[in-house]
Amino acid sequence: MAVKISDKALDHVIDEMIGVVENSKDEIFYISEGARTEHEQLVTELKETKEKVLKHIENGDQLEQKVYYSRQRLAEVSKYFDRYSEDQIRDVYEKTHRMQTKLAMLRQEEQILREKRDDLERRLINLSKTIERAEGLAGKVSVILTYLQDDFRQVNEMIENAKEKQAFGLKIIEAQEEERRKISREIHDGPAQMLANILLRSELVERSYRQGAVEEALAEIRSVRKMIRSSLYEVRRIIYDLRPMALDDLGLVPTIKKYIANIADYNNMKIDFTVLGEETRLNQKYEVAFFRLVQESVQNAIKHAEAREIQVKFEIRKNSLTMVIKDNGKGFDPKVKNEKSFGLIGMKERVEMLDGSLTIDSIIGRGTTIIIRVPYKAV
Ligand SMILES: Nc1ncnc2c1ncn2[C@@H]1O[C@H](COP(=O)(O)OP(=O)(O)O)[C@@H](O)[C@H]1O
Ligand SMILES: [Mg+2]
Repeated sequence: MAVKISDKALDHVIDEMIGVVENSKDEIFYISEGARTEHEQLVTELKETKEKVLKHIENGDQLEQKVYYSRQRLAEVSKYFDRYSEDQIRDVYEKTHRMQTKLAMLRQEEQILREKRDDLERRLINLSKTIERAEGLAGKVSVILTYLQDDFRQVNEMIENAKEKQAFGLKIIEAQEEERRKISREIHDGPAQMLANILLRSELVERSYRQGAVEEALAEIRSVRKMIRSSLYEVRRIIYDLRPMALDDLGLVPTIKKYIANIADYNNMKIDFTVLGEETRLNQKYEVAFFRLVQESVQNAIKHAEAREIQVKFEIRKNSLTMVIKDNGKGFDPKVKNEKSFGLIGMKERVEMLDGSLTIDSIIGRGTTIIIRVPYKAV
């Protein structure tokens, strides 16, 4: 069962990849959150720095004004130094000097603040780019995750379906061979043997007649006729199993009616058949498909479900055909695949070929409902 192992392996690889990508997504989220927090801090810092620069410019301008007056004053006291005492002159001089020094410092600080502001602006631009990139990346990673979680899983499903179909193809060939063997045995054991018997008996009739035993000959003929009748019945049954001619001659609904009446009678049970919508001949492909679908579902319900009652409903609409087959039997779990069973798979296959859908609703102990919907455009 190497097939099963590789199915699991693919699932495992996908799970691992999803794990790695999810981690990456978390990391990208942390990076982008970090960048965003830093961005906010920098914005606040930039605002403060700008305010400080403005304050410094303002203070500097005021101080420059003061220095200007102070220097004028100094010039004045220097010019009329005879009018001012030495202390007064020194005082003015020192005051001017102090203010000039302070102004120089203020301008220096202002320069530093401007540089800081420019630096902050540069960093903010870079951070914005980082945030943008992280968001882009997070988006891409989400896309990858979706791919992995949905689309890739679908690939897995497709592979499984393809395998199922491949197995089904092989099974069809086997089933055909099996069917031929069954039919040849049926003809051999039934009609062929009877014909041989009839041939023998007809010779007996001839002999009796030549010997003048007319009554015997007549009795023999009656018995031969009985055998012919039952051979005919057998041959008809075999033909019917192969492909009911009524399907081509009378169409789907009468054939299903006949089939259901027969099988209900044979199994001594109740099978309901309801038709909704206009009973018309359908495209041959659809008639054959639906007949086989009923056959398989009803046989399953009898063989596996041990149902006491089966209901078949067929609805012919303008754009679609719907069939519901419901039994009140054992029920089963359709998810549990039986390697040797191809009836249900074959049904699905037929429905898919007609672009339709088939759902199985089954409750253990309650019964099974199969719903088949197929788009159909009457021509
Ligand atoms: N109507 C039903 N009720 C209960 N079990 C069912 C029914 N139809 C199918 N099953 C279960 O599903 C299995 C697969 O059915 P199917 O594919 O038709 O194969 P098969 O009839 O050859 O066994 C059956 O063996 C049976 O266990
Ligand atoms: Mg079956």
